[in-house]
Amino acid sequence: MDPPWSYLRTLECTACSAEVDAESLHGVCLSCGKVLFARYDLADLKSAITPDDFLRRSWDMWRYHELLPVRDRAKVVTLGEGMTPLIRVSARVSDWLGFRGGLLRIKDEGKNPTGSFKARGMTAAISKARELGVTDVALASAGNAGSAAAAYAAAAGIEAHIAVPRDVPPINLVEMQLSGADVILVDGLIDEAGRLIHRLAGEHGWFGLNTLKEPYRQEGKKTLGFELAEQGGWGACLPDAIVFPTGGGTGIVGMWKAFDELRTLGWIGPKRPRMVIVQSTGCAPLVQAFEQGADHAEPWERAATIAAGIRVPSAIGDYLVLKTIRDSGGTAVAVGDPEIQAAQLEMARETGIYSSPEGAATWAALKALRQRGFLSGEEDVVLFNTAIGTKYEPPAETVSRPVM
Ligand SMILES: Cc1ncc(COP(=O)(O)O)c(C=O)c1O
Ligand SMILES: [Zn+2]
Repeated sequence: MDPPWSYLRTLECTACSAEVDAESLHGVCLSCGKVLFARYDLADLKSAITPDDFLRRSWDMWRYHELLPVRDRAKVVTLGEGMTPLIRVSARVSDWLGFRGGLLRIKDEGKNPTGSFKARGMTAAISKARELGVTDVALASAGNAGSAAAAYAAAAGIEAHIAVPRDVPPINLVEMQLSGADVILVDGLIDEAGRLIHRLAGEHGWFGLNTLKEPYRQEGKKTLGFELAEQGGWGACLPDAIVFPTGGGTGIVGMWKAFDELRTLGWIGPKRPRMVIVQSTGCAPLVQAFEQGADHAEPWERAATIAAGIRVPSAIGDYLVLKTIRDSGGTAVAVGDPEIQAAQLEMARETGIYSSPEGAATWAALKALRQRGFLSGEEDVVLFNTAIGTKYEPPAETVSRPVM
């Protein structure tokens, strides 16, 4: 008999530990309304494969298929997501940033299909939804998740219904419409869009794919953690700190889950990175909750930032993000939009990477982390550029040469 394509075992609630079977569709935990996590038969998996097996596999995130939720490989909808580069910032620039003895790298997620790390979550969630017979998916998005959902739904032959703020970055709107999604423009932010889509999904029987309100987008995001381990050569290889722009929290939560699984498998050592989240001062509910020592975040009033992907006033997975930061010995930083804009220009000039404002926020945060003394400058640090800059309005201040 062939080994299983996936070692998925069950779904488990992250709050009340209730277990539900993974053979039917689920959103949040039916007992308490919190986030469900996929659990795998890691003991069986450990005796079946070793990290060397990945070397012979496809150059995309499905190389880790045993640790992903889809059982039937024919149901996988892929556009070649994952295996993004880990780009080293030059010694000249890292010295100048105060990292003389350290190592600074950028995981460039802008190279994914539809230009953002959201592709990872959507390939997993939409493939699994297709496997379970879903014909219509629905979600609220700040922009990039909608673009990715539209593309994967198109590839899967599934309808996507997507509610977005009316001022969503225009390219996101083009991407969604081009892929044939049913796009609903909302006067309000992603939380308002979420309430609308929840109601419409209930009325029409669409399957909801909202951030952390179904169990599999974070499984796709988990592959960020697997890739960091593989790019470091497994073993005691993970960076000292990870700096990640955080809105709904799937990225940070997914990566932390990956490290747990890899540790259980014995494929990495005990060292874990300190997880640092970055938000904008115009919308920083998780940073505020972290600073107050709270387990949950209060919804942020009048959220506003140019970094559309982290304009998330409240997140169902707040308790998971906050626990991850604390368990890892990490921290939370808010940076202003002017610093984000300046960082975007600086990154482009000093590294050649045209990052999204969200990615640039991590560059801005790096300076704050160095100034506060959270980082000494000797560490191995990975920043995440979560999307490509060309998807956004160009930065206001792009200095061009005068025409000769
Ligand atoms: C470019 C970008 N970065 C970061 C985020 C935050 O994502 P999350 O906190 O869900 O991982 C988003 C979400 O839309 C995004 O589009
Ligand atoms: Zn529960």
